[in-house]
Amino acid sequence: MTNATSMPRPRDGILDIAAYVPGKSSGSGSGKVHKLSSNESPLGPSPAAMQAYTACAQNLALYPDGGSGALRDALAKAHGINPANIVCGAGSDELLQLLASGYLQSGDEAIYTEHGFLVYPIIIRANGATPVVAPESNLTADVDAILAAVTPRTRIVFLANPNNPTGTYVSFDEVKRLHAGLPADCLLVLDAAYAEYVRRNDYEAGMELVSTSKNVVMTRTFSKAYGLAGLRLGWAYCPANVADVLNRIRGPFNVAMPAIAAGAAAVQDAGHLEKAVEHNDTWLPKVTTVVEELGLKVTPSVGNFVLVHFPQNGAKTAAEADAFLVSNNVVVRRMDAYGLPGALRVSIGDEAGCAAFVDALRSFVTD
Ligand SMILES: Cc1ncc(COP(=O)(O)O)c(C=O)c1O
Repeated sequence: MTNATSMPRPRDGILDIAAYVPGKSSGSGSGKVHKLSSNESPLGPSPAAMQAYTACAQNLALYPDGGSGALRDALAKAHGINPANIVCGAGSDELLQLLASGYLQSGDEAIYTEHGFLVYPIIIRANGATPVVAPESNLTADVDAILAAVTPRTRIVFLANPNNPTGTYVSFDEVKRLHAGLPADCLLVLDAAYAEYVRRNDYEAGMELVSTSKNVVMTRTFSKAYGLAGLRLGWAYCPANVADVLNRIRGPFNVAMPAIAAGAAAVQDAGHLEKAVEHNDTWLPKVTTVVEELGLKVTPSVGNFVLVHFPQNGAKTAAEADAFLVSNNVVVRRMDAYGLPGALRVSIGDEAGCAAFVDALRSFVTD
């Protein structure tokens, strides 16, 4: 006999999940809104990608190529890797989810860092496993702290490199040291969503490690430097054993036809990507300098966003700043959910967006 209040019960851990809250998109003033809350590219997509997307309209009655072949081939050629080791997904979020559901179950643990990307605890819990948080040093992942958190139950370590929302990164030597310290049956997921933006000689997204081991995966996205966030497209470079697992559990047509076509065209337009990165190279330091001149601390960032720190008390807090910016149509991201209530994360927008942010911030600070 079922009683009237009984209902289907989700898997253990799911009701402990705090649902992901995306960045806001609207301001409260009139006029143009500068959305600097989701690290999107102010340059938008490559014109070739838009053209490829539009051309698909004629063929929408047909299923896409379930293996995303054209896109995997384009990526393989651009990066000098084997297309058989690439799995594409509806955003890198989907690939992270597939990795979690492929390798985690009840009783397992997965590690992420203190201010790591918030999707990790969600997908860990969604698969009945326990999230383990490794402390960071100076808002930067700390390899020793991650290794100290490993137990015989650890199945995955998620490392966003560079990390969102801090903008900090771990050198390739440190990533290799982390890998060397992990047991062979623990998967190291290198989430390199912002890799294109990094201009540091000691940084690498991790392809070499993937190529030479069975327990490292690198995930990448088209949502940031490629300007295709709305399309939902990402990819993972995996050892054969991991690609095999992901291909067994992914949806048979998990990437839409226009996404495959636009993604392949975007990869082939290296010039557009370079423009997006150059734009960031120009405006990231400019925005950082102005914010520092206003007396606020900025965490040094290698991504396309900055983390700005405000006094914790008084009338000039991050919450007050956020309200002021929104009223001036500058929409940034509150960081309470990341354990950083005194900070705001601000994406590097177009020239007008950067100017609107620094002008509004100046008014807020000096009023
Ligand atoms: C570190 C990190 N990983 C993954 C993602 C997800 O990107 P996608 O749009 O490809 O799902 C993001 C998006 O904000 C991110 O910041």
